[in-house]
Order: sequence, then C-alpha cells, then structure tokens
Amino acid sequence: MARHIHIENERETALQAAVTELAAGQPIALPTETVYGLAADATNPAAIARIYETKGRPQFNPLICHMADIAMAERYAIFDPISLDLAEAFWPGPLTLVLPLKPASDIHALATAGLDTVGIRVPQGFAGDLIRRFGKPLAAPSANSSGKISPTSAAHVEADLGQKINLILDGGAASVGVESTIVKVEEDGRVRLLRPGGVVTAEIERVAGKRLERSEKVSAAIEAPGMLASHYAPGAAVRLNATSVSPGEALIRFEGIPVAGEETARAVFDLSPSGDLSEAAANLFDYLKAADASGADSIAITSIPTHGLGEAINDRLSRAAAPRS
Ligand code: TXA
Ligand code: MG
Repeated sequence: MARHIHIENERETALQAAVTELAAGQPIALPTETVYGLAADATNPAAIARIYETKGRPQFNPLICHMADIAMAERYAIFDPISLDLAEAFWPGPLTLVLPLKPASDIHALATAGLDTVGIRVPQGFAGDLIRRFGKPLAAPSANSSGKISPTSAAHVEADLGQKINLILDGGAASVGVESTIVKVEEDGRVRLLRPGGVVTAEIERVAGKRLERSEKVSAAIEAPGMLASHYAPGAAVRLNATSVSPGEALIRFEGIPVAGEETARAVFDLSPSGDLSEAAANLFDYLKAADASGADSIAITSIPTHGLGEAINDRLSRAAAPRS
C-alpha cells in the first residue's frame, strides 16, 4: 500500500513528501480539480517512463504537462493570441491547450511522444502549489491503469495503483470529476476541440470568439489517443439510453426520474437528483465504479442531456460503452 497524506490536514508534509518523491524520479498520485493525476517530473525521462510503466500505457500517448501559471507555460510553449486569451480566462482550471513546443524546452520527448507540440494545463489548488514548489512542469495522465475509469478519489487510486506507487496525496473527491477540455488553435486560426471536458464548449467559444471544430478523425491516432474506443471501460457491459432496467442490471439515472424495473435492479445511482450537470460530472466515474462493483454484468444508463457539461459526460459514456478491443 502507498503512503497516504491528507493535504487538508497536512499540507506542508504533503508538499515536502511529494517534492522528495518527484526529485527522486518517482511518480506520485496527486489530486486535481478534474481527476487524480499520476505525476512525474516532465524533464526526467526515467520518471516519465515510470508513468507509462505504472499505467501499462501505450508509449505513443503524449502526456499533459502541468504548469504553475501562464508565465511558467510561456517558458516551454509558444502562445498565439487566442490561446493566450483562453489561458487567461480559464487557468487555473480544467482546460488543456495544445501549443507549439519551444525548441529549447527541456520537457522530455517521452512526455510529448516526440511531437513538436505540448499539451499544457494549469491546475487549481494544491497541484498548482506543488508545481510552484517543485519548480518544474509535471507530466500527469489520469492515475489509473490504461483503459480504466479515471480516479476521482484517493481510494480509487489506491485500489488500482496502490501496490505500484509510493505516495498518494488525498485531496478528497475531485470537484469537477471529468478530465480537462483539450483545445488546439491551428496556425490558420481554426480552434479545434480535441476532447470535451470540464470547461464547457460554449464558454470556450465565447472567449475565442468563434465556433470550435469538432475533429472526429483528424490525426486521431496522434492527437487524441485518450479518445480510443474502449477508454474508461468498466468490467461490466454498458447499455446507453436505457428506458428500463432488467433484473440484476445496475442502473445509473439522472434528475430523480424513476426507471421501469428499478425495484429489481442490483443497484441504483442518480448522477444528480436535482438535474445539475456539474454534480453529475463530479459523480460520474465514482458511480460507474460503484455500479461495476455491485456485481452486475451490465450497467443500464438513461440518456443524459447533451448541453453544457453533458457533452463531456456523454463523450465518456460512449467510450465506456464502446466495443472492447
Ligand atoms: O484533466 C486532465 O486533463 C487530467 C488531469 C490529471 O490533469 N489528465 C488527463 O491526462 O486526462 P490523460 O493523459 O489521461 O489525457 C491526456 C490527453 C490525451 O488524449 C493526449 O493524447 C492529449 O491529452 N494530448 C496531450 N498532449 C497532446 C498533444 N501534444 N497533442 C495532442 N493531444 C495531446
Ligand atoms: Mg486518462
């Protein structure tokens, strides 16, 4: 079992222990507002290799590099005017910008998968403080085995990776609950949505002053491998747009609306009884895991609205339901 430190009670201890592990080239589990990250020194190839090893992740996936603030990000990447506007509007927060890497950057090619771009995010709260203290960017994918549901609590991380890492920082339940929105501004000024996430699309369009292009297929293999079909897969089968639930299935519903057959369901979860999509996003991965753990071999999920954070929620659900490879 990994050492656990609660950042609320023992913030200074947590910062010091984390810096010690990171300086020794060890990945640590770290709370962010989106999901828990498996973080390591983005300039140290051995440390980054341990991230891939710990997750069992295919090596061609580039990792998001987390920075303390815009000034730090500008040391590593080149900002066009729209990206800078987006950074100023949404950082610290659940937005990742894919930007051209500065040639002299010491972010290691293992973190960017050898691309000439880098995904950068400035996280809120403790994670930002830790990066400031450490002084270097942290490469951090979500702290789960490759292809599994992202963790939104220290307990999720412990159950999956507790035997493989030394330190889990416990910041309680992640407040956003789905990963960051990933955006790339192209040289011709088009703004592409690579992954819907914690910042809703309409807000990004408002700041960018233009519509986002949703890139289904554009270089998908390199640019959004986090969108591989069977990502976020629970063990149980997932059945979307359910209007009824069969005996023995688990049910995930929304807005307090009862579903035919739920008396005989193995377990029933409501993502947000009041119909609040932020609350639904925050509960999503936890309830998918709990529905899976109920022993049901199928999880029925009712349709979830597609506006606002519903876009990210539906994106993750369709991946959870995709055929397993
Ligand atoms: O909220 C989040 O983004 C969380 C927390 C820990 O910050 N991190 C996260 O990382 O979701 P990960 O590794 O699970 O997803 C990273 C996504 C991948 O789909 C990856 O392909 C994309 O970001 N990405 C990273 N760098 C990229 C680049 N240079 N070009 C295109 N996509 C990139
Ligand atoms: Mg992930």
